[in-house]
Amino acid sequence: MPTHAKPASLLSALRPRSQDRLYDFYRDLRNTDELFWDRHLNAWIATSHAVVSSTASDPRFSSVRYPDIEAVSEELRPLARVLSRQMLYSDAPDHARLRALLSRAFTPRAVAALRGRISDAVDRIITRAEPAGRLDIVADLARPLPLAVICDLLGVPEEDRPVLSSWSDPIAAAIGSSRLDADESRTASQSMAEMLAYLRELLTREDGPPAPHTLRALLATGTENPDQDFDELLANTALLLIAGHETTTHFIGNAALALLDHPRAAGQLRDRGDLIPAAVEELLRYDSPVQLLLRRARHDLDLAGRSIAAGQAVLLVCGAANRDPAAFPDPDVLDFERPGGRHIAFGYGPHFCLGAALARLEGAVVLEALLTRLPDWKLDGAAPRWQNSLNFRGLTGLDIAFTPSPAPSQEPYAGPVDRIL
Ligand code: HEM
Repeated sequence: MPTHAKPASLLSALRPRSQDRLYDFYRDLRNTDELFWDRHLNAWIATSHAVVSSTASDPRFSSVRYPDIEAVSEELRPLARVLSRQMLYSDAPDHARLRALLSRAFTPRAVAALRGRISDAVDRIITRAEPAGRLDIVADLARPLPLAVICDLLGVPEEDRPVLSSWSDPIAAAIGSSRLDADESRTASQSMAEMLAYLRELLTREDGPPAPHTLRALLATGTENPDQDFDELLANTALLLIAGHETTTHFIGNAALALLDHPRAAGQLRDRGDLIPAAVEELLRYDSPVQLLLRRARHDLDLAGRSIAAGQAVLLVCGAANRDPAAFPDPDVLDFERPGGRHIAFGYGPHFCLGAALARLEGAVVLEALLTRLPDWKLDGAAPRWQNSLNFRGLTGLDIAFTPSPAPSQEPYAGPVDRIL
């Protein structure tokens, strides 16, 4: 029951070491109140599964992130203008139109066709690490793999991928931060401008027709449509690039850490491959890569017994909702046979993650490969560190050790992972 005691600020999650105890902190917040006003963030904070899921899909709320672009700082404004054209930060009818345009590239069928290539890429990364018996799961696997997959879908040549990543990182950091300084804002805006210039050139490059049914082919139909605004298409291509890899990187790292922390659950999964799809969902629930969704009240309204004023922001804490005992009994237990319960790691409602099928596939392939090929893996070295972000939950590195295998007689592939796909 809510006590209406004066709640803490969500910003406390950014205190040193708070990320190590994030879910205890969320539990305290939720036990105090499922919806409270955070004067430091100037936003309502929703922590229960019921309020988070209902608000995410409530048409009384908007997903527009910057309702008044002129109020945004001069340094951040160029980035804000681009983000405002992305489906993630749009409402109907623009949202539905953009989603319809791009969703065909992410149907379960289109995504399933990628399994073989993703699996080959993961195998090669592990093969490369086997002689040393060491792997940084974040740097060597979780970062390069999703970037390679989304770049492959977009037709980005291998040699251009590192620079795309160098633009994407400051943009993702800006999206994930509640307190950006002028330099960070300027860097994020500049990175977005360079990414868009690159994508403009990529999508108009005359290098023959793209393979049919690919995302690149879909984008080509968009560029040829005189009714389609090209800048809007570019802004949404940038969204796919950024959303398509930062989140999946965190998912792979967080899932691997959860399995290392729960050897019995890892053993169960090793013995029962049929549990992998359920394990992917449970691992997404257990330690969600995206912790916050933002919604804004379109008009004065009531929510969970509170009066929300028009324009006020509500931060939906998916990470707290996914550990709500009212939705998930024993929420802090990692249980691959958990009955029912719908996690919100991919959001809920009209903005439900467009890339969910792809992220699930990448997760499943990685889990299967790690568990079968590195049965005696263990943490190596210092305890893993969390990135300090309110919005994204992910590790800065995850070093593991395992029994080395002799190098194969054939020289293993030693080039960048980008070349694999
Ligand atoms: C585990 C990995 C991922 C997680 C946890 C994740 C999470 C999310 C969440 C929570 C949302 C909803 C945001 C909201 O309601 O405001 C979302 C939307 C979105 N995601 Fe993902 N995502 C992941 C992977 C991907 C991938 C691989 C792609 C693309 C290749 C992608 C593309 C998108 C897009 C385009 C949207 C906006 C959809 C819309 O506005 O209709 N995501 N994602």
